[in-house]
Amino acid sequence: MVWLIGSKGMLASEIAAQLNQYNIQWIGSDKEVDITDQAAVDVFIQQNFPSGALQWIINCAAYTAVDKAEDDPETAQKLNADALINICTAAKHYGAKLIHFSTDYVFDGSSSVPYIETDSTNPQSVYGRTKLQGEQNIVGLLPEHYIIRTAWLYGRNGANFVSTMLRLMNEKDSLKVVNDQRGSPTYAVDLAKAVLRIMQVDNHRYGIYHYSNEGNITWYDFSCEIYRQGKRIGLIKRACSVVPCTSSEFPQKAHRPSFSLLNKQKIKETFSLSVPNWNESLSSYLKELL
Ligand SMILES: NC(=O)c1ccc[n+]([C@@H]2O[C@H](COP(=O)([O-])OP(=O)(O)OC[C@H]3O[C@@H](n4cnc5c(N)ncnc54)[C@H](OP(=O)(O)O)[C@@H]3O)[C@@H](O)[C@H]2O)c1
Repeated sequence: MVWLIGSKGMLASEIAAQLNQYNIQWIGSDKEVDITDQAAVDVFIQQNFPSGALQWIINCAAYTAVDKAEDDPETAQKLNADALINICTAAKHYGAKLIHFSTDYVFDGSSSVPYIETDSTNPQSVYGRTKLQGEQNIVGLLPEHYIIRTAWLYGRNGANFVSTMLRLMNEKDSLKVVNDQRGSPTYAVDLAKAVLRIMQVDNHRYGIYHYSNEGNITWYDFSCEIYRQGKRIGLIKRACSVVPCTSSEFPQKAHRPSFSLLNKQKIKETFSLSVPNWNESLSSYLKELL
C-alpha cells in the first residue's frame, strides 16, 4: 500500500490517477495530517495501514509558494526540511520506501550545460535552501529513497504557468514574458507516469534523479507555443502579442535560476524511461482542457 502525502496537489493528483489505473491501493492525506508532527505521522500510519502493509510513502507536500517563503522561512523550513525527518523515521520504522520531489532551485543557475545529479548545489532562495535541506535529511536517514528533482511543473490541478498564460492571453492585447531564464517544463502526468515506472522497476538503485520534459527553452518560448497551440484549438479566443523581456523588468522576491536545465540521462537509463518532448506534452495538456 501507498501513503500519498499532499494528495490534492498538482502532482499528487496525477500520481493518484496513475495509482488507480494500476490498481495500486493508496491512502492520501493533506493538511489534516500534520507531517511536521512526528506523533501525528505515527498515529496516521498505525490507524490506516495494517502491520507490514505500508510499502511506499510518496511525499508531494511542500511549501511551494516560492516568493512567500522569503517572508516565512520558518514554515518553509518545517514543511520542506524538518518534516522529512519525521517521514523518514516512520518509513524506517514501518519498512517503507520513500519517493520525494525536489527542485531545480537547489542550483544557482550559473551553469551552461544541463545539471547532473552530482553537480554542486548552491540554492539562492529560502525555497531552494529548505528543499535542499529536505533532500539532505532524507539521504542521512533513509537509504531506501528516490528523490526526483523536477522543474517548471504544470498540470490540471493547480495554478501554474500554462493556466496563467491562457487566462492572460484571453484578457490582454499584449503580454511580456521573460526570455532570460532557460529550462524545460514538466507535465505532471508525465512525471506521475515516471513515478509509477520507478515503483514497478524498483531495482534498489536509490538516490537522486532529475526529471523534466525534453527540450531547452525560455519562458518566452514556452508562452509563444502556448499561444500558438491554444489559438489553434480554440482555447485562446482573441489576438494577443507575446513580447520578450528580461527578468529585471519583473522583479520578484525570490531569486530564480537563470539556467535550470536538468540532465535526465540517469533516470532514463536506470528505469528505461522515455521522456516526452515539452511541446508534445503541452499539446496533451491543452487537449485535456477542452
Ligand atoms: N510546482 C513546481 O513548479 C515545482 C517545481 C519543482 C519541484 N516541485 C516540487 O514538486 C512537488 C509537488 O509540487 P506541486 O506543485 O504539485 O505542489 P502543490 O500543488 O503546491 O501541492 C502541495 C500540497 O501539499 C499540501 N500541504 C501543504 N502543507 C501541508 C502539510 N502540512 N501537510 C500535508 N500536506 C500539506 C498542500 O495543501 P494546500 O494546497 O492546502 O496548501 C498541497 O496540496 C513538491 O515537492 C515541489 O517542491 C514543484
